Amino acid sequence: MALVEDYKGVIKRYKRYLPVSRKTPVVTLQEGNTPLVYSPKISGRLGKNCRVYLKYEGLNPTGSFKDRGMTLAISKAAENKAKAVICASTGNTSASAAAYSHRANLKCIVLIPEGAIALGKLAQALIHKALVIAIRGNFDDALRLVREISLNYPVEVVNSINPYRIEGQKTASFEVCDSLKKPPDFHSLPVGNAGNITAYWKGYKEYFSYKKIYSLPCMLGFQAKGASPIVKGRPVEKPKTLATAIRIGNPASWEKAVEAKHESGGLIESVTDAQILSAYKFLACEGVFVEPASAASVAGLFKLAKEGFFEKKKSKEIIIVCTLTGHGLKDPQIAVKSIKPPLIVDADLRKILKIAKI
Ligand code: F0G
Repeated sequence: MALVEDYKGVIKRYKRYLPVSRKTPVVTLQEGNTPLVYSPKISGRLGKNCRVYLKYEGLNPTGSFKDRGMTLAISKAAENKAKAVICASTGNTSASAAAYSHRANLKCIVLIPEGAIALGKLAQALIHKALVIAIRGNFDDALRLVREISLNYPVEVVNSINPYRIEGQKTASFEVCDSLKKPPDFHSLPVGNAGNITAYWKGYKEYFSYKKIYSLPCMLGFQAKGASPIVKGRPVEKPKTLATAIRIGNPASWEKAVEAKHESGGLIESVTDAQILSAYKFLACEGVFVEPASAASVAGLFKLAKEGFFEKKKSKEIIIVCTLTGHGLKDPQIAVKSIKPPLIVDADLRKILKIAKI
């Protein structure tokens, strides 16, 4: 019987494309190598010629795509003998930063918007002993403070304004191309602080320049309607959406995201919370549980399909990859709130059989 592949995380796998050397102490939790799951149900809803694959990033060690960038950011912080790292977060960055920095024995400080991050993410930052500071303000306020602190004090920022985060995250597009043996035609993903769309596009362009692929996908980014500064073309002062992970009014990688859109011939649009929730439930029919922000990428595809976007493409087969950024268990409260509660009955066989209709 073959042994399980000796997988050691994204830095080891893609080191020739990453800014690391033999001196870099690799801090890894074996992130990456996430499944690319074919979705017959979503494909069917988009059109006869569409094949949709879900890049299930919720299966990373801390339950989100952030681990790809964090392994590199923390490894480089350790290489540079940093003593402490800091980030602002809507929850996933802080969960990931806390886990990787605790493993590397680095102090980790996280600034989160008070009362606005999902419970699972808060639990992660706390269990990994980060210093969690909840501010009376939103994510944009927290990131502003983090920038200010890092300019004047010896702490390393591990938000995606740290270029190592983007470098690590670009490995997701390498994996997509390696799995499909080619790039997709379209790549859909949610947009918050806009680091991930920046990273994917960078990854695709690099694979193209290394002649690992011979075409480039069209990037499709989706913001939540109440937090859609890029779509509106101006910052949103009080961003609102139930998808707390992408409740961001002034994204750090705004320009890079617009560049990805233009260069790839893609688009950045918005989806309503109702569309996000509906896609969230639809994904569950495929056996895939994500957090609401992740469902924005699927909601966006449904919206485009309704407008006849994919029908207009005449190709025989359209390959679409959709990044599902975070696991549903991060935010169980949303699931429980949006679905009917369980029935409560006596421990009585007849009653149960009657209800179960078997
Ligand atoms: N999906 C999830 C689950 C996220 O946590 C985030 C961002 C995004 C999508 C958007 O990615 O910011 O690269 O455009 N979360 C950050 C955080 C902001 O602090 O965890 P982006």
